[in-house]
Amino acid sequence: MCGIVGILGNSPAVPRMMESLKRLEYRGYDSAGVATVTSAGLNRRRAPGKLSALSDVLAAAPLEGDSGIGHTRWATHGEPTENNAHPHQTERVAIVHNGIIENFKSLKNELSGTGATFEGDTDTEVVARLLTRYLEDGNAPRDAFQATLARLEGAFALCVLINGEENLMFGAREGSPLVVGTGQGENFLGSDAMALAGLSNQLIYLEDGDWAEITRDTVQIFDRNNTAVQRPVSISQVAATMIDKGNHRHFMQKEIYEQPTVVAQALGRYLDPINGRVKLPDAPFDLATIPKITLVACGTSFYAAQVARYWIEKIARVPVDVDIASEFRYRDPVYAENGLSIFISQSGETMDTLAALRHARAAGQHIASIVNVLGSTMARESDMVLPIHAGPEVGVASTKAFTCQLSVLAAFAVQLASAKGRIDDAAVAAYVAELEHAPTLMAKILRKDEEIEAIAQDISGARDILFVGRGIYFPIAMEGALKLKEISYIHAEGYAAGELKHGPIALIDENVPVIGIAPNDDLSGKTISNLQEIMARKGKVILLSDTDSTAADNMYAHFQMPTAGDLITPILYALPVQLLAYYAAVEKGTDVDMPRNLAKSVTVE
Ligand code: G6P
Repeated sequence: MCGIVGILGNSPAVPRMMESLKRLEYRGYDSAGVATVTSAGLNRRRAPGKLSALSDVLAAAPLEGDSGIGHTRWATHGEPTENNAHPHQTERVAIVHNGIIENFKSLKNELSGTGATFEGDTDTEVVARLLTRYLEDGNAPRDAFQATLARLEGAFALCVLINGEENLMFGAREGSPLVVGTGQGENFLGSDAMALAGLSNQLIYLEDGDWAEITRDTVQIFDRNNTAVQRPVSISQVAATMIDKGNHRHFMQKEIYEQPTVVAQALGRYLDPINGRVKLPDAPFDLATIPKITLVACGTSFYAAQVARYWIEKIARVPVDVDIASEFRYRDPVYAENGLSIFISQSGETMDTLAALRHARAAGQHIASIVNVLGSTMARESDMVLPIHAGPEVGVASTKAFTCQLSVLAAFAVQLASAKGRIDDAAVAAYVAELEHAPTLMAKILRKDEEIEAIAQDISGARDILFVGRGIYFPIAMEGALKLKEISYIHAEGYAAGELKHGPIALIDENVPVIGIAPNDDLSGKTISNLQEIMARKGKVILLSDTDSTAADNMYAHFQMPTAGDLITPILYALPVQLLAYYAAVEKGTDVDMPRNLAKSVTVE
């Protein structure tokens, strides 16, 4: 969601904050703002829209000061106008916030009743006014901040500066992540390691209920009972140079083309090709005794979970439930005793997935998480963590995280099958060899990107596009549709190929392109028959398949895929659908890395 940075530094804060906000823009880009504190008081600059608009404002009206707070916003309460942009400031305080203050209406009524006025519609401004009220009542800054926190309900991360206090910053975490970065005579706050890359690599992750009082030389952390606590220091793996587009036009493009490398990197952590074995991190439970697996995730990670269900059920013969995280706990799921619940999340912070994890933990499940961000909340709250090692993913549309999630899930399915005695060592070794081959085949597909680019340009004018597949390729069809709609704004849906005739086929005419995902396997004949039904109704079929071109007779286009083993084929088919979405969006001229209304990390329910 929103991105936060706070600096108590020894050099001008604004350029450092702007660099950090650039790295945080993936969390939201509806508006941005910075505030600094100097002996002259608090000052801020804000602008609706992307960070570049704030840069223009700062160029026209620079802001001095070595200490400051900054924010990129993904709007929850109130439109993305300048008045609603953070920092929210009164004569006494400046505040940036990520999350939602659920009781803001009653607090606003209370404050309005005693004379406070509000310039915008945000829940955050209420926090600024409340803290101001406690300071005006004569409380010392720490007492006023504590009193404010005690009144807030909801999920939030806050970072606060106080007028007249040039060497003081407060931070608080309840539900939304916040991390302290320590330096030499300077200290920092940020939403995540990305915010602090280039500022500090010594990170202290706050826990829910924690708040911090920070000066240039000291960091004091307190828990929700205001008891001083020590939290471990971890070393950030994220270097500022990793968050760079290089020669690519977009982060998404860079991340698509990185996939052979990062998938090889991820697999390198899980496979022992010499001995033909899978190595998983230690777990405080025995895979052999797990009776059932529950997979929970959102967005692209949810489609990775859906693919994994096919693998786990087919190879390991363990029953799998798959749920969208935002629905999971409200359906009162039936857990199996001693069951394993696995939470898949690139960020490791998605609020719905985290809430589902806590629900499963409260129900006594074993908890595993598959995350990209190592210090993330989900990783910290899991019994077993399976990192995907994709490196920072900046493009809002997830690409390399998806294929790395799939790679880790495939390795997991093989290990589970082996632990359950469903497959012998020779079968494990064969699967390991197949997985090892995936990066080479991925590179081969990416070398033919011009063909996909031409198809994407051709269909980019369509109003609706359908993606169809059977079996394990059904979730790939849904992921293809999600990618396309989120960055090109073309309406797209993914369907099980056999389901088309039960309704969606009514949409087909000569203007509707249909992407058929049909590797040459025991189901491809049926999928190709469904594609023929579409062609009979003048639909433009684009076939993604390793089948020979005769099967593609009369089809509008055929992208020839390499032939591969069953296990890795779904991973490979993720690539052409990503490329299709990417090049369609480029053709349409949309903002590929920052599509409208979206954010990469969604820390509200
Ligand atoms: C957002 C992003 C999606 C992502 C989803 C889940 O909606 O735009 O790309 O798949 O969140 O994120 P997670 O970090 O939990 O994988």
